[in-house]
Amino acid sequence: MSKKAIGVFDSGLGGLTVVKELMRFLPQEDIIYYGDTARVPYGTKSKEAIIRFSCENTDVLLKHNVKMIVVACNSCSSYALPILRKKYKVPILGVIRPGARKAVQTTRNRRIGVIATSATVNSNAYIKNIKILNQSLRVWQQPCPLFVPLAEEGWFDKSASFNIAREYLAPLKKMNIDTLILGCTHYPLLKSILQKAIGGKVTLIDSAREVACEVKNLLGKKNLLNPRAGRKANYTFLISDRPQAFKKLARNFLGRELEHIKKV
Ligand code: DGL
Repeated sequence: MSKKAIGVFDSGLGGLTVVKELMRFLPQEDIIYYGDTARVPYGTKSKEAIIRFSCENTDVLLKHNVKMIVVACNSCSSYALPILRKKYKVPILGVIRPGARKAVQTTRNRRIGVIATSATVNSNAYIKNIKILNQSLRVWQQPCPLFVPLAEEGWFDKSASFNIAREYLAPLKKMNIDTLILGCTHYPLLKSILQKAIGGKVTLIDSAREVACEVKNLLGKKNLLNPRAGRKANYTFLISDRPQAFKKLARNFLGRELEHIKKV
């Protein structure tokens, strides 16, 4: 049993999609979130930069004495996860494997699409994880770098966002996929326009729920769950730049006021 908080980091706002599910699945757990809004986006940066930022973000959270780390960023999970796990002693979970597993369970016609940042697409992390589970599935990827600034701006359902989505998704639509992995933690914020652009028959995979399930299992297995059931959890948000802009968008997204928000 451990009363320490769960640490979660992302390059910006996107990791809140994971935080929302953690709040639902593990209501008694404290969460410390770090959004590196000063350096977002990560997905257009080099592998070396993404690894360095991931280590620095982990250090920020460990200073707050967290009991585990959730890497709520696909670009960081794609490139930095093995390095983080070697370097740090706390349990560390990423977002790629849970999303890949869910897509493999979901597809019926064995045709899966992945939309993600350029970094995640170039790493082929989703393809590798899907093929480990089922060699026979076919996977197509599409980088969508414009989605991150749209999400960070709160343009969740503007017509400009929809037009961009339609252009990005056209090649995947042609491939007749039945399952689409939202391979970037920012993309669930744009879910309604993405569903409209790809069509109602395609199932969107948002790994946030799967990640929250995995966090719960891992904490249970390691005997690290918070023993105080029914308590009111504390949520702390650490932001490297523009905390006010973050606060406004995060409040809309999480549907609650953020009490503890600090610039670090
Ligand atoms: N949250 C990041 C990811 O999941 C995307 C945003 C970025 O490019 O920094 O890859």
